[in-house]
Amino acid sequence: MDTENGVRSNKLTGSSYHFRTFQVSMNLLSHILVGIIVGVNLVFVFRLPTPLGDTPQHIVLCVLGYQLLMAQAILSLSPYNTWSLHLKLADKKRAHTVLQVMGSALAIAGSFIKIMDKYNNPSATNWNTLHGIFALIALVFTVASLLNGLTSLYAHELRKFLPSKLSKITHICFGIVVFIAANISLCYGFEKNSFRNWVSTTNSGPIVNTLITFTALLTGIVVVAPLISFFQKFKTN
Ligand code: HEM
Repeated sequence: MDTENGVRSNKLTGSSYHFRTFQVSMNLLSHILVGIIVGVNLVFVFRLPTPLGDTPQHIVLCVLGYQLLMAQAILSLSPYNTWSLHLKLADKKRAHTVLQVMGSALAIAGSFIKIMDKYNNPSATNWNTLHGIFALIALVFTVASLLNGLTSLYAHELRKFLPSKLSKITHICFGIVVFIAANISLCYGFEKNSFRNWVSTTNSGPIVNTLITFTALLTGIVVVAPLISFFQKFKTN
C-alpha cells in the first residue's frame, strides 16, 4: 500500500485492479439489495396492527432468516465481502457458523408457523402452491445443510469416517440450493394478492417485477462465490 497525503492507495494494476473493483461493487450492490428486499417486507408487515398474525410472522422470520442472515452467512466467506475482509479465516468461519445457525433457526420457525397455520385450517391444503413447494425445498435443504455444516466444521476430526471433501462439497451444494429455493419462494410471495394490493391497488406489476428482478440479482451475486469454490473443490484433491 502507498500513502499519499494520508490517503492509502493500492498497488493493484491492470485487469486484477478492474476485476477487484467489479467484485467489490457487486458485493456492495448485494448489501443494498438485501436492505431493499428485507426492508420492503418489514414495512409490508409492520404496518399491520400487533399482535401479528401467523402470515405476517412467517414473512418476518423467513425474510430475516433467509434473505438477511443466510445471505450474510454466505457472503462472509467471499474474499470480496467488505465487512469480513479483515477477518482471519478461523473468524470468518465462526461468523459464517453463527449467522447460518441464527438464519436457519428463524427460517425454520417462520416456515413452521405458516405450515401449522395451514395444517390447522380445515379448508386449506399444505403444499398446493409453488410458493409453498419452493419453501419446503429450502426448509429440507436448510436442515440438511445445518447437519453437514457440522460435519464440514469437524471435517478434519471426522476424516476417518467421512471424506472431508465430500462434507464440504455437499455443504456448499446444499447451501446454494437453500438460497435459490428460498428466493424463488419469496418471488412467489411477492405475487400474493395481499402483497400486490399493498404495493398498488391499480397497477402493482412494475413494482412487483422490480422486486423479483432485485431478488434474482441478489441470488446470482450471492451464489457466484460458492459456485466457484464448488467447481474448484471438484478439480483439487
Ligand atoms: C423467503 C420468504 C418466504 C418463505 C420461506 C415462506 C414460506 C412459506 C411456507 C413454508 C408456507 C406454507 C406452505 C404450505 O404449507 O403449503 C407459506 C405460505 C404462505 N405464504 Fe409464505 N414464505 C415467504 C414469504 C412470503 C411473503 C413475502 C408473502 C407475502 C404475502 C407470503 C405469503 C404467504 C401466504 C399467503 C401463504 C399461504 C398460501 C400458500 O401456501 O401459498 N410468504 N409460506
